[in-house]
Amino acid sequence: MKMNMNMLRQGGFFHLPNDNIVKTIGVATLLCLLCSVVVSGAATILKPQQVANKLLDKKSNILTVAGIVDANKTVDELFTQIEPRIVDMASGEYTDAVDAITFDQRKAANDTEYRIDLDKSQDIASIRGMSKYGNVYLLRDGNEVSKIILPIKGYGLWSTMYGFIALESDGQTVSGITFYEHGETPGLGGEIENEKWQASWSGKQLSNAQGEPVLSVIKGNVSSATPGAEYKIDGLAGATLTSNGVSNLIKFWMGKNAFGPYLERVRSGKAQASVNKLLNTEKG
Ligand SMILES: Cc1cc2nc3c(=O)[nH]c(=O)nc-3n(C[C@H](O)[C@H](O)[C@H](O)COP(=O)(O)O)c2cc1C
Repeated sequence: MKMNMNMLRQGGFFHLPNDNIVKTIGVATLLCLLCSVVVSGAATILKPQQVANKLLDKKSNILTVAGIVDANKTVDELFTQIEPRIVDMASGEYTDAVDAITFDQRKAANDTEYRIDLDKSQDIASIRGMSKYGNVYLLRDGNEVSKIILPIKGYGLWSTMYGFIALESDGQTVSGITFYEHGETPGLGGEIENEKWQASWSGKQLSNAQGEPVLSVIKGNVSSATPGAEYKIDGLAGATLTSNGVSNLIKFWMGKNAFGPYLERVRSGKAQASVNKLLNTEKG
């Protein structure tokens, strides 16, 4: 022990013999410190790149669901056709209360400034809370809105499923759907990513004559002979619970506690009129 202390004083613990416990613990501690500095440094340096990639991925999903693909153009070039807007969920009106480019409805759902807690009877998508402002993405065809893209999320069997739904300008006909993040089982609930199944949503109708969202994923397959086929989507084989989760999230986000008031304005032509008014003001 005396010899160890002398060695430590002379040249640090590196001069201690390799089987010395002080040296072993010291080297291990130094190595841990070094690794944590490298890992946290890398995380800090890469953070802006990760944020940029996430944003690019989000834009790419919005373009996919809107049916805009062009291998010769970058995502940012294509995204110039999309106009982000913010909707006040309660009134269904467009608002400038927050910035349409940077506001993130998904993040805002966990921010006390924007969060609305949902009670049990409202929370059919099992999400507990939502943002009072919603992101909407408008695909323009000149002065007219040709498609409306809305974010959707809800619980499946194992996880919260995140996606986008694209509607035609009537606010009633589905143009496309995509899910970009979920933890459902590959081959079962994970089939929400199946392109063929997603394509089967195109042309389906969201709401009944009373404006209530009735489009749902059924158990089994839909044929042209199925009564109300325009409101029904094929069930995912062996994944009824995920399928029910998808039905529930559609019912919630297209319903009166979420985008329902906005869709009502779209269907009555008021939302289009207010976009045109904004456009003319911007031009003027
Ligand atoms: C390992 C495992 C993973 C499963 N993953 C899913 C899933 O992701 N989504 C789902 O709805 N059901 C999943 N199931 C099946 C459900 O437990 C349940 O049996 C199924 O949803 C019933 O659907 P069906 O009536 O179409 O068979 C899984 C079952 C097992 C054993």
